[in-house]
Amino acid sequence: MSAGLVIAIDGPSSSGKSTVSRAIAQDLGCAYLDTGAMYRAITWFALENNVELTDPEQIAACAAVIELRESTSADEPGIWVGDADVSAEIRGPEVTAAVSKVAAVPQVRAMLVERQRAIAAKSDNGIVVEGRDIGNVVLPEADLKIFLTADQEARALRRALELGQDPTEIEQSLATRDKADSTRVASPLVMADDAIEVDTTHLELHEVITHILDLVRTRS
Ligand code: DC
Repeated sequence: MSAGLVIAIDGPSSSGKSTVSRAIAQDLGCAYLDTGAMYRAITWFALENNVELTDPEQIAACAAVIELRESTSADEPGIWVGDADVSAEIRGPEVTAAVSKVAAVPQVRAMLVERQRAIAAKSDNGIVVEGRDIGNVVLPEADLKIFLTADQEARALRRALELGQDPTEIEQSLATRDKADSTRVASPLVMADDAIEVDTTHLELHEVITHILDLVRTRS
């Protein structure tokens, strides 16, 4: 484990994990890791290589040869595949639509969990790690575990405002991803027993951040 505080932030899509996690890491001056970006980067690479996404063996073989590199700076997060900076491409609709299939492959998860643990272990000033299985699987010994939630409608509305798209369509795609993430066999999205749930439906961003920083102070 890192010598600094290790904070796990899990929760469903569009619950505000990335914005909140980055802000917490910036305030604490520690590292930040977006594990969803790692699943997205493998998905990007699989799409680039015309991998058949219905075939878990093909996905696993593709993941085994990927050269991933991530920045754990909260000020400048980013992810590279080989020399290609894919930080923007991985947010596109093709990757978003396909990533649940890749994240369901046990070999992919095993490989990324190992990588995520190694990154956390060498983050001497502590780290905020966001994802779906951080508190339960990746870092069960984390000093603080937060489970960030919000009503599906509120999450869809926030994402629609961000992307300038129709909230109803977004809510449908969120519902599909929520279902895929929470019903898959390998590490489904489940709140850890010792996690603290923070429902952000009726909270402003700054209120969520202040609340979590208050919780951090109880652990340091
Ligand atoms: O947080 P996100 O939307 O960028 O995550 C992309 C996908 O990866 C989503 O389908 C959930 C999955 N994921 C996962 O299974 N485990 C993680 N630790 C992080 C993300």
